[in-house]
Amino acid sequence: MKSIADKLIDQLPKAELHLHIEGTLEPEMMLTLAKRNNINLPYKSVEDVRTAYEFNCLQDFLDLYYLGMSVLVTEQDFYDLTWAYIERVHADGLTHVEMFFDPQAHTDRGIKFETVLGGIVSALETAQKELNISSKLIMCFLRHLPEEEAFEALSCACKHKEHIYGVGLDSSEAGNPPEKFTRVFTAAREEGFVAVAHVGEEGTAGNVKEALDTLKIERVDHGNHAFDDPDLVKRLAQQQTPLTMCPISNLRLKGIPTLSASPVKKALDAGVLVAVNSDDPSYFRGYLNDNYRAVHDALNLNENELITLAKNSFAGSFLEDREKQKQLDTIDNCVESIKRQTG
Ligand code: ADE
Ligand code: ZN
Repeated sequence: MKSIADKLIDQLPKAELHLHIEGTLEPEMMLTLAKRNNINLPYKSVEDVRTAYEFNCLQDFLDLYYLGMSVLVTEQDFYDLTWAYIERVHADGLTHVEMFFDPQAHTDRGIKFETVLGGIVSALETAQKELNISSKLIMCFLRHLPEEEAFEALSCACKHKEHIYGVGLDSSEAGNPPEKFTRVFTAAREEGFVAVAHVGEEGTAGNVKEALDTLKIERVDHGNHAFDDPDLVKRLAQQQTPLTMCPISNLRLKGIPTLSASPVKKALDAGVLVAVNSDDPSYFRGYLNDNYRAVHDALNLNENELITLAKNSFAGSFLEDREKQKQLDTIDNCVESIKRQTG
């Protein structure tokens, strides 16, 4: 029989706030699209792809991530990719997603910005209509590229403000501090986009502070190394700045030696608004609920902590207050119903 914790993980409504749509590309779809678009890959079979997914650090993963997404060419490809993710996480109880996409990784290959955006948006509209899953899109700047190229992406995004809610910063953190993108983040905020950034994944607590103070981010993606600086942890808790943590991703990229070293429990204990997410679920072999299960088991989280994580996923979202409250009420009702079933 399933435990209450298992039922909570399976059934609670949840939001995912840290998810790269390109990181959901499953090996089967990668090979199908490679064939459909005549793209040469160094893999012959699904097993070849899976065998390649052994990473020693963030850069190892990024190299294969950019290679894999080379099969995405048409608007239909981006639609199929996004719809496959939505169907998969619908089964996990997901009701809201704030999804990253990396347009520069596609426009650099000659794919039009509108091709990428069109396919993703169209699948997200179907998700809202057919499955009542709401969403917001966050366009990430690739931090290994120059700031001038980020400005080009921003100018494309400005033509599609109705579909793009925020800007983020991802790719290689080492050697690419937040400060490199001060001007483009200032311009993006002036254009009305909210700002978030990957910081403290491999980089230091100093990067987290710099992103808060200079880029004026409203949410921290990862933020693991914030826990090296007790004053920063106090600040994050006091300001209730959300942290979008990704425990299985951290394990696969060797940011932590074991799941028991995940800072999720430390964050909960410190009163930080932490949410659990999958990051790139195909590459790291774990979707949203796998991440909840992983922290539950490794960190001995109790039922209340699981409920807090699900609530934080909405509290830390960019949903309007009324919508947040609706989702939080649904969680309370779901908890009551699970407790009644279990006696
Ligand atoms: N792009 C996709 N996943 C990422 C991660 N975990 N860190 C930085 N850039 C990424
Ligand atoms: Zn990420």
